[in-house]
Amino acid sequence: MLPSLIIVLTLTTCTYGENPAIKILLTNKGLQYGKHEGAGWIQDNLKRVTLPDITGRIMGVQYTLTNIKISQCDFPEPSVEFSPDVTGFKSSFPGLSVALKGDWKTRFGFIHYGGTFNLALFDVSVMSVVGLGKDADGHLNVTSDNCSAQVGDVMIQFYGGASWIINRFVKHYKERIRGELEAKICPLVEQYTASLEGHLQAMNVSFEVFEDLDVDLRLTDFPFINASGLHLGLKGEFYSNETHEDPPFKPQPFTLPEQTGYMLSVGLSQYTVNSASYGCYSAGHLQTVINDSMIPPCSPVRLNTTSLGPYIPQLPKLFPAGLLMSLLVYARDIPMFNFQPGAVKLNFLGAIKASAIQANSSLTPLFTLNADLEFSGKVWISGGKLKGCVAMDNFTLTLAASEIGPFKTDGLENLVKMGMKMVVLAPLNEKLAKGYDLPRMKHGELVNTALNVEEGFIAISSDAEVWSAYRRFN
Ligand SMILES: *[C@@H]1O[C@H](CO)[C@@H](O)[C@H](O)[C@H]1NC(C)=O
Ligand SMILES: *[C@@H]1O[C@H](CO)[C@@H](O)[C@H](O)[C@H]1NC(C)=O
Ligand SMILES: *[C@@H]1O[C@H](CO)[C@@H](O)[C@H](O)[C@H]1NC(C)=O
Ligand SMILES: *[C@@H]1O[C@H](CO)[C@@H](O)[C@H](O)[C@H]1NC(C)=O
Ligand SMILES: *[C@@H]1O[C@H](CO)[C@@H](O)[C@H](O)[C@H]1NC(C)=O
Ligand SMILES: *[C@@H]1O[C@H](CO)[C@@H](O)[C@H](O)[C@H]1NC(C)=O
Ligand SMILES: *[C@@H]1O[C@H](CO)[C@@H](O)[C@H](O)[C@H]1NC(C)=O
Ligand SMILES: *[C@@H]1O[C@H](CO)[C@@H](O)[C@H](O)[C@H]1NC(C)=O
Ligand SMILES: *[C@@H]1O[C@H](CO)[C@@H](O)[C@H](O)[C@H]1NC(C)=O
Repeated sequence: MLPSLIIVLTLTTCTYGENPAIKILLTNKGLQYGKHEGAGWIQDNLKRVTLPDITGRIMGVQYTLTNIKISQCDFPEPSVEFSPDVTGFKSSFPGLSVALKGDWKTRFGFIHYGGTFNLALFDVSVMSVVGLGKDADGHLNVTSDNCSAQVGDVMIQFYGGASWIINRFVKHYKERIRGELEAKICPLVEQYTASLEGHLQAMNVSFEVFEDLDVDLRLTDFPFINASGLHLGLKGEFYSNETHEDPPFKPQPFTLPEQTGYMLSVGLSQYTVNSASYGCYSAGHLQTVINDSMIPPCSPVRLNTTSLGPYIPQLPKLFPAGLLMSLLVYARDIPMFNFQPGAVKLNFLGAIKASAIQANSSLTPLFTLNADLEFSGKVWISGGKLKGCVAMDNFTLTLAASEIGPFKTDGLENLVKMGMKMVVLAPLNEKLAKGYDLPRMKHGELVNTALNVEEGFIAISSDAEVWSAYRRFN
C-alpha cells in the first residue's frame, strides 16, 4: 500500500510542473528557411573569418600556420534536421571545398624560415549534432553532442624562404597533414558551440517591458521535438519589478494547434495578459484622477456641482456657489481577460470616488460609486497589421458609499455610459480599425501571419522573411 502510494505521489509531483503560459513551435518549414538563410549568411561572411593558428610537428620540425584566412569557399547547401533522439539539430555539410591562405613559420635548430602558403581542402564533410537543453535558470542550453569530419584531399604550397625544400618535403606528408587538419575541425565546431552557449547563458530571461513591469520568459520545460517540430514552453509571466509577486492565479494547460504549414506558431495564454493586468494593478497603476479640464469642451455636462445637479439633487443645495469636482477612478480588483473562441472578454470592476474641490484646493469627499464593466473585443490580422474592435457589453453603476446621502444612479449610469462610448471607445475603435504594425525584428519581418483567439489562449502562426539586404551589407 505505502510503496504504491509513494509511487503515485512521486509521479504526480513529477507531472505537476509549472504550466508554460507561452508556447512556441518551430516547424520543419521554419528550420529549413532558417538553414537556407543561415547558409547564405555563412557563405557571405566566411571570408572575414580568421581561423585559429595551427601548430604541428613533422619529423621533429615544428611548423606554425598563422593568420589563416578563407580565400574561397565552395559551400553546397547543407542539410539540417531535427534530431528527436538527442533533442537537437543534426547538420551535415557535405562536399565542401575551401581555399585558405596565410603565413607559415618553421624552425630547424637555430634557423628560422617563414613565408606565405596556399592551402586547398577538397571534399570536406562535417556532421554535427547539437543538443538543446535547459539549465536551472531556464536558459536554453546548447551542447555539441556528436561531431565527425572528413577531409578528402589536401593541396598545400609554400612560398618564401626555403619553401622549395619544404614543398618537396610536404608531398610525402600530405596524408599526415590531411589527418591533422581533419582532427582540427570538430574541436573548432565544439568551440563555436561553447561560445554560443556562453552567449545563451549571458542572455536575460527577464526583460523590462514598461517602466516597472518585467516579463519572465524562462523555459519551464526541456525543449522537445516530435514530428511537428521543436516545442518550447516559456513561463510568460509579467510581474512588477518592485513587488516580484506571482499573481493569485495559475496558468492553465493548453494545446497549441499544430500549423506545420507555417514556420512558427506561438500560443499566448490569457494568463500572460492577466499577469500583466495583475502587475499593473498591484503596482497601483490602475488609477487616475479625472477633472473638468479633461472633459471634452463640447460636452454640455461639466464636472461641477451645478452641472451634475439634475443627477444628484443634493449637490447644488450643498454648494450653492458651485464647485469644480474631481473623480478618482480606480480598479477594485484585478481586471481579468478571458479568451474565448473568436473573442476576448474583459471584466473590469472599478470605483469612482468623487470630491468637490474647495476654493483653498482641499477636497471634500462626496460619494463613491462602483462601476462594473464588461467589454468584448475581436482581434485579427489583415494587411500585415493587427486590428480589432471593442464593444461595451454591460455597464452598471451602483452607489457604494455616500457622504451626502442616497441618490438614484440610473441617470448617471446612462450619462457615464454615453461618455465612455464617445470619449473612450470611439477613438479606441478608430485606432484599432487603422491597425498596429506587427512587431518587427532587426533584420526581418513576419509575413503571412494568422491570429486566432481560442479557448484560453491566442494562437499566432506566421512565416518570417529575412531582409536580404541584411545579409549583403552586414
Ligand atoms: C547544459 O546541458 C548539459 C546537458 O544537457 C549539461 O550537462 C550542462 O550542465 C548544462 N549547462 C548548464 C550551465 O546548466
Ligand atoms: C556519433 O555519430 C556517429 C555516426 O552517426 C555514430 O556512429 C556514433 O555512435 C555517434 N556517437 C555518439 C556519442 O552519439
Ligand atoms: C540583463 O539585465 C540586466 C539588469 O536588468 C542589465 O543590466 C543587462 O544589460 C541585461 N543584459 C542583456 C544582455 O540584455
Ligand atoms: C523598477 O523599474 C523602474 C523603472 O525602470 C526603476 O526606476 C526602479 O528602480 C526599478 N525598481 C527595482 C526594485 O528594480
Ligand atoms: C507533438 O507534441 C505536441 C505537444 O505535446 C502534441 O500536441 C502534438 O500532437 C505532437 N505532434 C505529433 C505529430 O506527434
Ligand atoms: C486637472 O488635471 C490636470 C492633469 O492632472 C492638471 O494639469 C490640471 O491642473 C487639473 N485641473 C484642475 C482644474 O484641477
Ligand atoms: C459648471 O458647469 C456649467 C455648465 O454646465 C457652467 O455654466 C458653470 O460655469 C460651471 N461652474 C463652475 C464652477 O465651473
Ligand atoms: C479649506 O476650505 C474648507 C471649506 O471652506 C474648510 O472647511 C477647510 O478647513 C479649509 N482647509 C484648509 C487647509 O484651509
Ligand atoms: C450586467 O451586469 C449586471 C450586474 O453586474 C447583471 O445583473 C446583468 O445581468 C448584466 N447584463 C447583461 C446583459 O449581461
